[in-house]
Amino acid sequence: MKWHNGKTIWFTGLSGSGKSTLASTLKTILESRRIPVVLLDGDVLRSGLNRDLGFTAMDRAENIRRAGEVAKILSDAGHTVVAAFITPYESLRQAVRGLFEPGRYVEIYLDCSVEVCESRDPKGLYCRARAGEIPEFTGVSAPFEPPGSPDLVVPTGSQTVEESLADVLSHLEARFVDLTCRSYASIGRGPTGRPGRVAVIGLDGVPPALVFDRAGSDLHTLRALMEHGVWGPLRSTDPPITVPAWTSMTTGKDPGELGLYGFRNRRDYDYRGLVTANAAQVEARRVWDYLDEAGKTSILLGIPQTYPPRPHRGITISGFLAPEIHGPFTFPEEVAAELQEVTGGRYRTDVEGFRTRTKDRLLEDLYSMVDARFQAAGHLLIHKPWDFFMMVEMATDRLHHAFWKDCNPGHPLFRAGNPHEYTIRDFYAYLDKRLGSLLALLDDDTTVLVVSDHGTRNNLGGVLINQWLVNNGFLVLRNPSDQQTDLKPEMVDWERTRAWSDGGYYARIFLNVKGREPSGIIDRSEYEAVRTELAGLLRAIPDETGRSMANQVLRPEEIYQACNNVPPDLIVYFDDLNRRSLGMVGAAQVSTTLDTDTPDGANHDPVGIFVCARMGELRRGIHKGRRVEGASVLDITPTILHEFGLTAPEDLCGSDLVADRPALKHRHVSRCEARSTSLERRSGYTSEEEELIKKRLVDLGYI
Ligand code: ADX
Repeated sequence: MKWHNGKTIWFTGLSGSGKSTLASTLKTILESRRIPVVLLDGDVLRSGLNRDLGFTAMDRAENIRRAGEVAKILSDAGHTVVAAFITPYESLRQAVRGLFEPGRYVEIYLDCSVEVCESRDPKGLYCRARAGEIPEFTGVSAPFEPPGSPDLVVPTGSQTVEESLADVLSHLEARFVDLTCRSYASIGRGPTGRPGRVAVIGLDGVPPALVFDRAGSDLHTLRALMEHGVWGPLRSTDPPITVPAWTSMTTGKDPGELGLYGFRNRRDYDYRGLVTANAAQVEARRVWDYLDEAGKTSILLGIPQTYPPRPHRGITISGFLAPEIHGPFTFPEEVAAELQEVTGGRYRTDVEGFRTRTKDRLLEDLYSMVDARFQAAGHLLIHKPWDFFMMVEMATDRLHHAFWKDCNPGHPLFRAGNPHEYTIRDFYAYLDKRLGSLLALLDDDTTVLVVSDHGTRNNLGGVLINQWLVNNGFLVLRNPSDQQTDLKPEMVDWERTRAWSDGGYYARIFLNVKGREPSGIIDRSEYEAVRTELAGLLRAIPDETGRSMANQVLRPEEIYQACNNVPPDLIVYFDDLNRRSLGMVGAAQVSTTLDTDTPDGANHDPVGIFVCARMGELRRGIHKGRRVEGASVLDITPTILHEFGLTAPEDLCGSDLVADRPALKHRHVSRCEARSTSLERRSGYTSEEEELIKKRLVDLGYI
């Protein structure tokens, strides 16, 4: 039975121009769309069917004639044929084209100079041809006539495989509707009426303004997703920082439920330092755990807090805070080597030291990191089985920290005409293009989500919170000094201290409570009164000019569903999060502003983005974009589960963002008792790694 209108896709170009690579990758993608494909490759035919032929003009003509006839027989029988032959003469190409109906044949020229092909020389043939060992070698001692009227020219000399593939796929999709619609038309949607796969592209720290206000201009991919899907601001966790925001997003649980209140958490109620959060401390099930149970395969690339990687159905490449890149940071372990092979050794979790004044070097690293991550993503999407794919790119957040003040006219330190004025804009345009190439690899049954964990806003300075606590008699030091230094437990006179704090983007205040902390002095009966007094004072801390900053003070039990492990007693956002909390003591002034040459002009904002569309609807333009208000990172896990036709567990308070519904589910907050579990028992880092990570966090501004 003939059930598919077979096409022939003919690649022509020099040896080494990428014909075989593109043809075989294209075959994999089309097959994933349930299209039957046969690959006809010059090298293969020449070792069998055409082994009696050489490379004279006549033999090449015969070689191509036979290949064309075979392609015709196969495509008439309903197969799509992907052919890869040098096909060096125009007359040969015309002869092949003449075999097919116009609507069923496409000629694609891979345009790559002899010099580039020769520099690649994957089979070492150019070298041998130059040495005279191979006569009549195309491009060296035999001609290649550039095609006169190809249907598509792909500049493979200056593109990555993934970009070239995107060009090819867009062309084919525009031309042959059934190459994209196949699975829709023949199989239809699943019993739930929902598509079969989900791909989440996470971009750390992307604020709405940089995408939604700009998508009309040059962010073509994001605009297309918005126009044919749902989108809107995405409220981050409190605090709005990478860990715990990504973990809340991938579990549907808030930081209190997770018992992870930041990058570093108290292990118990003693005064020792904090421990760094890692995957071993995440007890809640993550979205891929539910999917695993439902028999789905997940590929996880660069998601924060996935180190140490856990065995599951699929692949994990640990994200941010994986202590090393060459050790077992992947599951299965051997994927690490494959990743480096695919990216030419350039894959990295994060850039080093982005708080730098050598910005050109940093920018180069950021582009290279994105390039390698997207290359890795493309490779995994094409070559590995998956139902759920999720990647997180950290480069956007690093870019903001380093270039925000140079690019944002609203920053007090912005100088028009500075050399980096358009760095963020250009980087986003590049990222959008890479995103477009990646989406081209997805079939019509895939739902795409682009999400960020938090937004970005101005960094205007800091508040030395521990110094303020000292000045106000809450914190007493054994040997006060005017040397500015980090607060260490041994510096504190615990018998006379009522509160101390921790640095970072926001302050976490800990009270020294009798019977809870080892040398606690606040009576349980006074706890609320002290907390209320302190909250009032914190709210009123002014900036260095005496202006009120209207600081926000949060009580954990009022913002979280539960307060597991060791919650802070208070959380403080200074100056609407425009100022950081600095943990040092020994400073003359409590509020500080930025130096003009600060290497970091950005802070985190509680509002990020989400955009969600189904590839089939996007390609057919059948769904009109809709802005959704009030979405939260807690909605992402339920949304993903629903896309797979699974019901989100009752204890998740988020809602499905895609479903048509009048309002998001009401989020209730509860008063709760802290359930204390020691985090120490669950540390996934060795003590050496813990030190390494701590150093990195200092560098990142989290400590
Ligand atoms: S074609 O010119 O007749 O279209 P075809 O695509 O089948 O060539 O085969 C090209 C492959 O044969 C090259 O990729 C290369 O591996 C091999 N080859 C061996 N000798 C030659 C030659 N003299 N010129 C070009 N390719 C050669």
